[in-house]
Amino acid sequence: MSMVSPPRLGVLVSGRGSNLRAILDAIDRGSLHARVAIVISSKNDVPALQIAEDAGIPWRVIRGAEYSSRAAEGAAIVAELRAAMVDLVVTAGYGRIFDASVVEAYRWRIINIHPSLLPAFAGSMAPGPQAQALAAGVKIAGCTTHFITEETDAGPIIMQAAVPVLDDDTVETLAERILREEHKILPASIAAVLAGTVRVVDRRTIQVTEAKDARS
Ligand code: GAR
Repeated sequence: MSMVSPPRLGVLVSGRGSNLRAILDAIDRGSLHARVAIVISSKNDVPALQIAEDAGIPWRVIRGAEYSSRAAEGAAIVAELRAAMVDLVVTAGYGRIFDASVVEAYRWRIINIHPSLLPAFAGSMAPGPQAQALAAGVKIAGCTTHFITEETDAGPIIMQAAVPVLDDDTVETLAERILREEHKILPASIAAVLAGTVRVVDRRTIQVTEAKDARS
């Protein structure tokens, strides 16, 4: 086991929490050296909070409706992330758009998972993107991890995974096929960013071989 204390993740959720579970499973398996320091949900009583509770992870609910502005909501989020000493933020099925102050506070340190091959079908929440893929008749769908910037679903892409769209797919069967890939690329993306092998160059990311720690 590493002597170095693991990097601290803050995971934002709004619902089922299967991506949160995939992160926790990757940590348990030893394929992701990190710990989830806090889970923040935009909704009360969602399954993701039960997952956090069962795993002994501190959790909070920050509901947009309880704040006078998006900036005030953002300030509350940043305060919780800072109190938990979070190194990297992950939005895993989070149904809110961050205020620019959150993006600024964690520049290149917020990873989002989106259930489409961006830039296609950006801007909505699951199952919107999967339904749009089906309606558009695309033959390949998938998921994308990317850094969050001020532009919704348009930050530099970290990883993508593709799946076929089958003739008899429903939104549910397609979403399920995509979800299995989400559960692989989200922990892998977090691990890559924490390892320092992902570098942002203009609007894209490139993989570098040397770890950040190896550079002086
Ligand atoms: C996932 O499919 C995720 O990609 C999507 O919500 C679902 C959450 O599932 N995110 C978005 O649509 C963001 N725009 P989960 O709660 O089981 O992780």
